[in-house]
Amino acid sequence: MDILSGKEDEYEHKIHDVMYVANNIPGVGISIDEFDSVFSVGCKCIFDCTQGNCSCVRECVNYIDNRFNEEKSSKLILECNPQCLCSNNCQNKLVQCGPVDCLEVIEIEGKGFGLITNKFIGKNQFICEYAGEIIGIDEAKKRIEENKKLNKMNYILVVSEYIGEKKITTCIDPTYFGNIGRYSNHSCQPNAKLVPVRIESLIPHLSLFACRDIDIGEEITFDYAGDNIKNIANCLSDTPCHCNSDKCIGFLPHHPI
Ligand SMILES: C[S@@+](CC[C@H](N)C(=O)[O-])C[C@H]1O[C@@H](n2cnc3c(N)ncnc32)[C@H](O)[C@@H]1O
Ligand SMILES: [Zn+2]
Ligand SMILES: [Zn+2]
Ligand SMILES: [Zn+2]
Repeated sequence: MDILSGKEDEYEHKIHDVMYVANNIPGVGISIDEFDSVFSVGCKCIFDCTQGNCSCVRECVNYIDNRFNEEKSSKLILECNPQCLCSNNCQNKLVQCGPVDCLEVIEIEGKGFGLITNKFIGKNQFICEYAGEIIGIDEAKKRIEENKKLNKMNYILVVSEYIGEKKITTCIDPTYFGNIGRYSNHSCQPNAKLVPVRIESLIPHLSLFACRDIDIGEEITFDYAGDNIKNIANCLSDTPCHCNSDKCIGFLPHHPI
């Protein structure tokens, strides 16, 4: 069931060996039952979900005027889902509506392809998801090693979240099945950040939000290391970083697995 059928995503891949998927799909090492297990309840708000008493929004709104709310203290970002009583115009439905329509894939020296914007993107605006095959940790390790051996570009992203006492690790591989987000490169001084957003299930949508205003023609970049890395020196790959920023750490970081 495509629960996110309201999503508008007109992008496609110009290369032939990648299949465009607007949403994550289950891959090796993931239980299909777990992947398909969607929330069976939603909020009971009839008018809007901007109030703290909405069970999806909880204590603090996720978005203000369609932009990420930096004041959100909880790490759990939960959008309204089809079980909620609110309308399609609910302010707590953003990532599920699809990416911005102004992204272009171009070749960038030293990095292969990269993603640029042909319109201004304001701070905290949603840009796009980093969607692909959701795979298990062992499969991710295996594929990362294989890529290294074959000197292939690595698209696998590993993200860890700490929600209360719980550590949740998500591995996404958009090498063969991915959306427009797969072209976003790393920068040590990025203009976007990756935020895990839950919509229809516990599987997160890894969502890129602008962390500052982004001008026309600028490349969209995020920090591949993420927020939860304590000692970055232990997490450097052997791929030289060409982000050209003053804060460049020299090599692409990756989340340790
Ligand atoms: C998710 S892909 C990004 C899109 C990719 N550049 C492409 O051509 O499709 C990640 C890969 O891009 C390259 N890359 C990303 N950021 C880079 C950077 N700052 N410097 C050099 N290469 C980079 C690395 O090969 C990395 O494994
Ligand atoms: Zn709602
Ligand atoms: Zn709701
Ligand atoms: Zn760098």
